[in-house]
Amino acid sequence: MDFSQLQQQAKQEAQDITDTKSREEYRLKYLGKKGIVAEIFASLSSAALHEKAAIGKAANDLRTLVNHLIEEKSKKTASTSIKPEQVDISLPGTSSVLGHQHILTQTIDEIVSVFEKLGFVTVETPEIETEFHNFTGLNIPLDHPSRDSFDTFYLDQQDRSAQGRRLLLRSHTSPGQVRIMKEHKPPLAVIVPGRVYRPDAVDASHSFMFHQLEGFLVDEKVKFSDLKGLLTEFCRRFFGKDVKMRFRPHFFPFTEPSAEVDISAGTLGLARKKWLEILGCGMIHPNVFKAVSYPSGKYTGFAFGMGIERMAMLKHGIKDIRLFYENDVRFLKQF
Ligand code: PHE
Repeated sequence: MDFSQLQQQAKQEAQDITDTKSREEYRLKYLGKKGIVAEIFASLSSAALHEKAAIGKAANDLRTLVNHLIEEKSKKTASTSIKPEQVDISLPGTSSVLGHQHILTQTIDEIVSVFEKLGFVTVETPEIETEFHNFTGLNIPLDHPSRDSFDTFYLDQQDRSAQGRRLLLRSHTSPGQVRIMKEHKPPLAVIVPGRVYRPDAVDASHSFMFHQLEGFLVDEKVKFSDLKGLLTEFCRRFFGKDVKMRFRPHFFPFTEPSAEVDISAGTLGLARKKWLEILGCGMIHPNVFKAVSYPSGKYTGFAFGMGIERMAMLKHGIKDIRLFYENDVRFLKQF
């Protein structure tokens, strides 16, 4: 028997293997019970003694070769042809992940919706402001520290409506009061949500950009008790009806009298500090009405301004303001 020719033949025929069927036929032809390798072993019994070792070795070599060729072919057929019956249709599908609104947007929407139900109208005013809207019209004197460039971002651009004055990034939403009152006569009940900017060093509770929501109501005979009633109702709807709050006297140049509102940390399940400040408010100062050319003595009104991040942090137990802006999905997914 010419063993090297047999090996050639095995290599040749292996090339015709195209699928599992031809591979099985090939395997049987060489390695089956009545296959070529078995035949060679069978021939051993009648072989001459000095030939036996060489024949045995040839049969073993052929078996090794054929096994190797089959293995090579199986790899190729597996990677090149996926047959329909090999697709497991019982596997779960790949679903697409649905996103949702950022927690700050959700908080703004929630606060806005409470005030809209109470009859307020939402207006957005510019983030780039004039000194008049941000300070002067709000009765903030020229030497007030908040006008300092340590406390306000000024732009290089000049304010074309006031010589020698530069534009700035609003440091609160209160300029919205001046803009809207300049354009509209009372009765007014308006909220102004939006971004504000202050050159604060960033830490767990400060950011150079954050969000506020301004609210004001102007009419004839508006009283401080109206302000108190409205904010009490708002806090109940936003934080829950058991929320405890207090009005603490304060000072703002654009309201008189002024107050800050605190809510009791205990009622929110926070143990740390007893009272937490949530907003500033008061009765609109007569000088603000004067700045927007309302007739003197005709109207009264109140205004308030709250920090949106603050509200969201208190409501959801968020400890660090920076989390809102880092866009870490592990944080965002929780809300
Ligand atoms: N503008 C004030 C602030 O940023 C808040 C405020 C608004 C106070 C309206 C009184 C009335 O701190």
